[in-house]
This record gives sequence, structure tokens and C-alpha cells, in this order.
Amino acid sequence: MKVTVIGTGYVGLVTGACLSEMGNHVVCLDVDARKIQILNDGGIPIHEPGLDAIVQRNRAAGRLQFTTDVEAAVAHGTLQFIGVGTPPDEDGSADMQYVLAAARSIGRHMTDYKVIVDKSTVPVGTADRVKAAVAEELHKRGLQDTGFAVVSNPEFLKEGAAVEDCMRPDRIVVGADDERAILLMRALYQPFMRNHDRLMVMDVRSAEFTKYAANAMLATRISFMNELALLAERVGADIEQVRKGIGSDPRIGTHFLYAGTGYGGSCFPKDVKALIHIGHENAMDLQVLQAVEAANDRQKMVLVDKVVKRFGEDLTGRRFAVWGLAFKPNTDDMREAPSRVIVDALLARGATLSAYDPVAMTEARRVMEGLSGITYADSADATLDGADALLVVTEWKEFRTPDFDRIKAALKQPVVFDGRNIWEPALMKTLGIEYHGIGRAGA
Ligand code: UDX
Repeated sequence: MKVTVIGTGYVGLVTGACLSEMGNHVVCLDVDARKIQILNDGGIPIHEPGLDAIVQRNRAAGRLQFTTDVEAAVAHGTLQFIGVGTPPDEDGSADMQYVLAAARSIGRHMTDYKVIVDKSTVPVGTADRVKAAVAEELHKRGLQDTGFAVVSNPEFLKEGAAVEDCMRPDRIVVGADDERAILLMRALYQPFMRNHDRLMVMDVRSAEFTKYAANAMLATRISFMNELALLAERVGADIEQVRKGIGSDPRIGTHFLYAGTGYGGSCFPKDVKALIHIGHENAMDLQVLQAVEAANDRQKMVLVDKVVKRFGEDLTGRRFAVWGLAFKPNTDDMREAPSRVIVDALLARGATLSAYDPVAMTEARRVMEGLSGITYADSADATLDGADALLVVTEWKEFRTPDFDRIKAALKQPVVFDGRNIWEPALMKTLGIEYHGIGRAGA
């Protein structure tokens, strides 16, 4: 099939690449000429495991093209995916200007039937706004209706596992009321089914709402576990034991129960805010979700609070090693990363930092440009010598089994703050390392 994807960010690029892998002819459009240039030169603007190979393969086969030519891109696809950003506005609502601009571009250039697919996370009612924007552009051209449908098809992929999630989805939500559009969406997603019908057709508004509900539910689990972890510390329980104890109940399940330094990334913080805002627009205080957000803000400071408790409020003259900056492993994404709050807070108290992240260092330098007191090391090991303590902020695999003797020998005193609970308090005790985890008994 012929597919156009507008927006070559995480969602757009991964979607375009995976659809081309299934034999579709995909044209990816972006207004950012620099990004398109990188892609046309054989590069990848983001770090995402497996994406490079799939993009190169399909580009070479001629099934995946990148362009800034709006007219040609719109002419190409029967299916027009909108995968542009919906960043939070000042008031927390999702900024729809890029989605609506994409809709208008389609309306300005389309000449035959199109299925317009909202892939970006958008507030309930956006499909209607997209429809109105397209219809208005058609009207300006004196065209009443060349025939088009607007479909909501939210994306559930996780960064760091985006290609895998996209190729092997657990469900595909399609919100649509146009029979022809539903048939085309079914045909497009057939190769992704793996012997099960994973495609759920529902009304457009429910599909739009599903995405927010999913992310809000997951964020709630995390904040709830983080809060329980804080209480566990006070009552002398171990959140890691509690996690296993409750996760074995199939109604609860084992995933997304990890206490840590708070959730970050491009989705949870933004979508929680947006849903709270949608609540207000509809005269409702979403009390649970407001607490989820407040608990997450507090959680980002938990590691800093522990450092302050150990070393005092004034950290002048102290140097800390920081392992991990990305908001989670396997990505270079620094958006809303807890590390940013932690770094700011430590520097504000006079500390200096030596930081290392396996892939997010360039991105970290960019987003934290101008901060003085932080240096970037070439390896995890190189951060350690003479530091007062080590902080683990992102749970990269390569941090899980380090040379503990070396850590002990290199630090001024053997103190670690493990923001992701990757090490066992009992082992640390045996090794003679002072250990501070999140919600760990005796730590
Ligand atoms: C998320 C959703 O998982 C995905 O379905 C949606 O489409 C976009 O948002 P992503 O932002 O890539 O994906 O990251 P995810 O792996 O879900 O993690 C989000 C944050 O929660 C990270 O900061 C992570 O460290 C944190 N987290 C996750 C925890 O603190 N504890 C957990 O148990 C799980």
C-alpha cells in the first residue's frame, strides 16, 4: 500500500520504517530539512535499537523515502499518518498546532480519497478538529469533498524497544466510523497480527481516550509504588520484596512496579498533565492523577534528599559520580529525565559532578549546556576517583555488575545512592559499601 507519514520523530520514523518493512511504499515527510538530510544521507537522528538497520534496508530497497516536499508527499499515500509532536502548552494542555498544520497540508494538496490517521497522542475530539481543518482547506480550493476519513490509531511503543513494539504490537487500536477506512487499516495491519486478531475497532473518541488512559494508568502504578517505597523505608520493609509479593497476583501483574527516581520521558509527564487539563476543561478535578504528578515531582528529589541527609545541606567541596543521565536505559532521550532535577539540585547546593551515560552524553551536554560544575567522563569507571559518593540514576545494564572493589577503592568513602535499586543491600553490606536504595530495608 502507499503510505505517507508526516513527522519523522520517534513515532513517525518508527512507524514509517516498520510499515515499509512489511512491503508498503512509505514516504516520510518533515518540515525539518536537517532531519530529512540526515536520513537521506543514511543517518538516523535518534538512538533507537534496531531502527538503523530497518531504515537502511528499506531505504535501499526503495520502499522508504524521506522528503520535505509536502505536495509530493501528500499526493503519494492513500493512508496519511500524522505523527508530529504534541508538546505541552503553558497550561499543560497538548499543543495541537503541529497536528492541525499537518491536517491543513493534507487538505491543501489532496486530490483523491485519503485516510488520515492520527498517530500522535491527541486530546479527545482531535479527529473532529482534523476533519474540520481538512474540510476547510478543501473548501478554500472550491472542492466540496474528494472523500476522506479521519481515524485515530494511537501508538503505544516504548522508547528503547520501539521497533520491537511496533513490529510485535500487543494490540492495535483503531478508532473509526468509515467502513472503507476500517478495511484499509485492517489490510495495513494484517502482517502485524501474528495469528491473533489484535486489531480493535472502536469509536474515534474512545480510541483517543485509550492512549491517555493507558499512560495515566502506568504512571499511577509508578507513583503508587514510589510512595509505598518511601513508607517502606520508614516501617523497615523492603519494597523489592513487596513488589514480588504483590506482582504475583495476576490482577496486579509484575510489570511497571519498580520504585525509582520517578518517571520521565516524552510521554508520561506530558500525558498526565494533558489529562488533568482535559479534566479541568470538563469541570472535573482528576484527584488521583494530580496526586500521581505531585508524587512524581517529589520522587525526583528523593535521591538528593538522601545525599543531603548523609552529607548535609551545604555540598560545597563535595564531588559526586553520577551513573546514567537518560530518562531510562537504551535511549539517549533526556526529556523530563529525573537526572536533570537531580543534577540541578546537587549543583545548586555547591557540589560538583562527574557524569557518565553510555549513549545520552551528547544529548545531555546539549540540554544541560551552560551548567557549571558538571563534567562528563568517558566511562563509568572514570567518574569515580576521589568522588565523595556514587549516584546511580539510570539502570543501564552495564552498571549492574561493576567491579565493586574498584568502586570502594576509588571513592573517598564507599557510599552509593542507588536510585534504581539495581544492587542488593545485603551484598553491599558484605562488601563494606554504605548503601542507600529506594525503599530498601536497612538501606
Ligand atoms: C511510555 C509508554 O510505555 C508507551 O506505551 C507510550 O506510548 C509512551 O510512553 P516510554 O516513555 O518510552 O513509553 O517509557 P517507559 O518504558 O514506559 O518508561 C517511562 C518512565 O517510567 C521511565 O522514566 C521509567 O524509568 C519509569 N518507570 C517505568 C519506573 O520508574 N518504574 C517502572 O516500573 C517502569
